[in-house]
Amino acid sequence: MMQSEEIRSRFLAFFEKRGHAIIPSAPLVPLNDPSVLFNTAGMQPLVPYLLGQTHPSGTRLANSQKCVRTQDIEEVGDKTHDTFFEMLGNWSLGDYFKKEAIEWSYTFLTSKEEGLGLDPKRLYVTVFEGDENAPKDTEAFDIWKQFVPENRIYYMSAKSNWWSVGENGPCGPDTEMFYDVTTEGLGDLTKEEYMRADDAQKVVEIWNDVFMQYEKKDGKVIGKLAKANVDTGAGLERVTMVAQNTDNVFATDLFSGLITKINELATQEDVIAKRIIADHIRTSVFMISAGVFPSNTGQGYILRRLLRRAVRYSNVIGMKAGTLSHVAEAVIEKYAPIYHEVVEHKNRIIHEVNQEEIKFHQTLEKGLKEFEKGTDPFILATTYGFPIELTTELAKEKGLTIDLEDFRTKMAEHQKLSQTASAGMFKGGLANHNEKTIRLHTAHHLLLAALQQVLGRDVKQRGSNITEERLRMDFSFDRKMTDDEKKRAEEIVNESIRAGLKVVRREMSRADAEKIGAEMEFGAKYPDTVSIYFIEDVEGNPVSKEFCGGPHVLNTSELGTFKLQKEEASSQGVRRIKATLT
Ligand code: ALA
Repeated sequence: MMQSEEIRSRFLAFFEKRGHAIIPSAPLVPLNDPSVLFNTAGMQPLVPYLLGQTHPSGTRLANSQKCVRTQDIEEVGDKTHDTFFEMLGNWSLGDYFKKEAIEWSYTFLTSKEEGLGLDPKRLYVTVFEGDENAPKDTEAFDIWKQFVPENRIYYMSAKSNWWSVGENGPCGPDTEMFYDVTTEGLGDLTKEEYMRADDAQKVVEIWNDVFMQYEKKDGKVIGKLAKANVDTGAGLERVTMVAQNTDNVFATDLFSGLITKINELATQEDVIAKRIIADHIRTSVFMISAGVFPSNTGQGYILRRLLRRAVRYSNVIGMKAGTLSHVAEAVIEKYAPIYHEVVEHKNRIIHEVNQEEIKFHQTLEKGLKEFEKGTDPFILATTYGFPIELTTELAKEKGLTIDLEDFRTKMAEHQKLSQTASAGMFKGGLANHNEKTIRLHTAHHLLLAALQQVLGRDVKQRGSNITEERLRMDFSFDRKMTDDEKKRAEEIVNESIRAGLKVVRREMSRADAEKIGAEMEFGAKYPDTVSIYFIEDVEGNPVSKEFCGGPHVLNTSELGTFKLQKEEASSQGVRRIKATLT
């Protein structure tokens, strides 16, 4: 049986042979795209090139891209949904078009020598039926006809056969390939029968060829792109599933080691719970390797949610506390030969999984008891740290409904109160600290460190002001910054954000803080014991250390994208920067 490692490498070799440059998977957390938290498709890092920019590796590209999609998190546990997946993709940037794309997809799927050797009699295909934006894709239909019987090619609407990444960007009609995963074989199907088979997961989508010829703005197709591109995507998990002759991704070699490990650790049978744990821990391993830390916002929040769900289901099947990290180890072992970062970050992965597990076990025990008693979801969240999603899921299992409106109102009121309370505690800290200003405050620290790196250590902060929209920093420097310096400072801040650095508050004597060279505010008088905020990497090397009352985010991964908006003179020898986070 062909293993996933071979499938991945066959795919790349197949397209390399056909003139494609093999590019590495972009990081799971997009570098320059604040519109999404994680890459959700192979084409995402390629958007600028699909819109017309020249790609340094040429006009034919292929890779296996790490992706995360969590919108279907509730579906995980069925046969085909997973929150992390690899997308095998080939691209033409204004090079070949429908003929080659379709022919190569077909050949890769069916060729025994070069591809997966799938049974052509189990293939079904959909093409675009046409609408006001683009004509019926008879061209794709005619090409497919050479390979697949006409009565297995179905015209479908834009709802299923028009692909775009969001409201803006490249898009176009697509043709999708489906494979029959039943043991008996479905044979010829009418369109209605095929659609029912799809709903019942008897046929499974395995590849999508998008003919990216159009552009969308604010949700509307506005016209053609300068070049006609091809963007394809085949989920590695799914093609492995069909190549290995099974009907669920958890039975493939990508998951089998994880499931075996979970079976060893579980004392109770629950197939769905085991799949959820396997999926969520695998995704968590890749997120942590990408520099994400569990937290309450952004990427970190998604990670925390996955880990907590995994803990909850590990409870359901009687796994002992502290054993989820064994599942993480099984993931690392499986992917070590392919993605070195999982090995590189092994210690941190194990640490974070353990930490989150310990914390959440305590929460769960108390929270579940309270939930059973019918305690208000707001009290569950604030007193017992029981996330609202979990309360909602538990309620659903019991056929109860939660009054989310009531929950949100109480939560908003609660946050207002706690802000006022902590504003009193942290004198000298941020006056207004809602989430936006807190993030900007942390960015402020990173900016000062970046300026010192670019302009020299003697750059000192001379003033600061933070609103919800932007930060403003005055600093000592005697000339205008060059464009290059501005860009570098901005990049350094964004690198620190992407690196997911920890923000730690430590109390120490003023003398010690001065000794280690923590940044002081100009002209401020400090007490004998001071609060210092450190922003540091996993090894504890500080990128920034400042005298500061806080508050700050817990991890820089929560900040988003930093943008330097303006650099201007403030007064003699003092410059002023305004910057934002998006
Ligand atoms: N971008 C296309 C998809 O994700 C290939 O389905």
